[in-house]
Amino acid sequence: MEFIDLLLKRRSVRRFKDEDIPKRDLEKILEAGLLAPTSRNRKPCNFLVVENKEPLEKLAKSKESGAEMLARCDKAIVVVANTLISDTWIEDSSIALGYMHLMAASLDIGSCWVQIHLRKTAEGEDSEKVVKEITGLDDYFRIVGILALGMPDGEVKPHALEDMDKSKIHFLV
Ligand SMILES: Cc1cc2nc3c(=O)[nH]c(=O)nc-3n(C[C@H](O)[C@H](O)[C@H](O)COP(=O)(O)O)c2cc1C
Repeated sequence: MEFIDLLLKRRSVRRFKDEDIPKRDLEKILEAGLLAPTSRNRKPCNFLVVENKEPLEKLAKSKESGAEMLARCDKAIVVVANTLISDTWIEDSSIALGYMHLMAASLDIGSCWVQIHLRKTAEGEDSEKVVKEITGLDDYFRIVGILALGMPDGEVKPHALEDMDKSKIHFLV
């Protein structure tokens, strides 16, 4: 598959079958996260795999909306950045999430980015704080997002290059 075809194929998948993702595919997705570039090569990100229903259901309520699919996914990867190592944890975490999302698409595994930092629960609590409580993480870790993973239930239409808004491209003359 050409890289552009993977970019077109990649969609956010929020509906999953009640089926495990293959173990080797999970490893490949995590390897993609480890391969993501980081500022000054500091590699501040850790990847916490959540497999059990109970914490997944709690994580699904860690923000007001947009995290519901975590209760229905097979596994989730919480990207945990160590802020003692790097000040570019937002960028580094985002690239790792993007790489894993693309790797999942290449393996026909459904995935969706769940934004955590800057978000609140339905009760107005800080989403990052709630996720840290569920996962037992110290305060100096920051959580940009979580990747929900599962075998897709149904197909999400791929993107088409014709639908892209080329007026967003500018050339400074
Ligand atoms: C930074 C970022 C945060 C996102 N947060 C969420 C989220 O919390 N919940 C969700 O369902 N989708 C989330 N998404 C997925 C976007 O809604 C999705 O990428 C966008 O609607 C385009 O659809 P596509 O991914 O299928 O191309 C997020 C995506 C990004 C890049």
